[in-house]
Amino acid sequence: MNHKTHLAIASALVVLVSGITYLILDAIYQLPPANSAEAVPIDQLFRGHFILISFLFALVVVFMGYSLVVFRRRPGDDSDGEFIHGSNSLEVAWTVIPLFLVVGFGVWGWNVLDEITVAKPNEIVVEVTGQKWQWSFHYPELGEYANTPDLVVPVNTTIRLEMESRDVLHSFWVPEFRVKKDLLPGQKTTLRITPTDEGEYKIRCAEICGQRHAYMLADVRVLSAPEYASWESEILAIASLPPAEQGQRLWQANCSSCHSLDGTALVGPTWQGIYGRQEALTDGSSVTVDDEYIRESIYEPNVKIVAGFQPNLMPQNYDTILSDQDVTNIIEFMKTLAQP
Ligand code: CUA
Repeated sequence: MNHKTHLAIASALVVLVSGITYLILDAIYQLPPANSAEAVPIDQLFRGHFILISFLFALVVVFMGYSLVVFRRRPGDDSDGEFIHGSNSLEVAWTVIPLFLVVGFGVWGWNVLDEITVAKPNEIVVEVTGQKWQWSFHYPELGEYANTPDLVVPVNTTIRLEMESRDVLHSFWVPEFRVKKDLLPGQKTTLRITPTDEGEYKIRCAEICGQRHAYMLADVRVLSAPEYASWESEILAIASLPPAEQGQRLWQANCSSCHSLDGTALVGPTWQGIYGRQEALTDGSSVTVDDEYIRESIYEPNVKIVAGFQPNLMPQNYDTILSDQDVTNIIEFMKTLAQP
């Protein structure tokens, strides 16, 4: 066999092994379903890398394996190997081709980054706050009180997430949307997503942020345009209620099983006439119920216990349930609960 035949056989084997390697890689590293416009060019980029990796693997392994088998020493052959001194054309080829490949992939990656980060028409802005260990979302276009614990967005519309952390680094990640970005304390970061399929997805935190990092989850609900419009009007209706009425809704949902409004003592003191009242505490001192005391009693309920009541009954995680604004609304509601 002459050189050309060996080369032809080896080349055919390179193509074959590349194909097999790609199929194996593709089966092992399965990407989650792609449910955003951004996922399409990112997945193409992934596939491009898989193809290149498969080809390079085949190139090395096939030529090595072929030489080991075909050009092995035969019994009785004690001659020296052929002396080869360099090859200019080979050296130029294995320098120039990888150079173009690396630069080409760089330009491709740059274009994809550009495509997924550039401003789109009719974006919806959602402000995302990350804190240990929860997400919260604010819709500035729907008013000051439009806050939700889950991200609700319409399908096929670009959402611009303006993100910031209250404490340490967190990272916004929805695998089905592919894109991911860190949240920093004191500095806004922006992420754009364009969901293409209705459904529910999970937001994960992708940056180790302490004890409950793994549980820092929230839902993304992707709705059809009419469903989103009706969700929006629901939020608008709630968000446009005056603070005291918002406070009443919060009391109903969070506080009403332990704090009555009619003077009855349940496991906690009644809220009837609570604002401005003098409260005797278990340590013998007394305190005036003002904004500061209420805020402390909600966030750290064991610090001051009203005489006649027990410590450790009130949940100590309201700092993760009620925002500052929620507490302000609750205080406004309390101010309306005068002594009869
Ligand atoms: Cu937040 Cu990990």
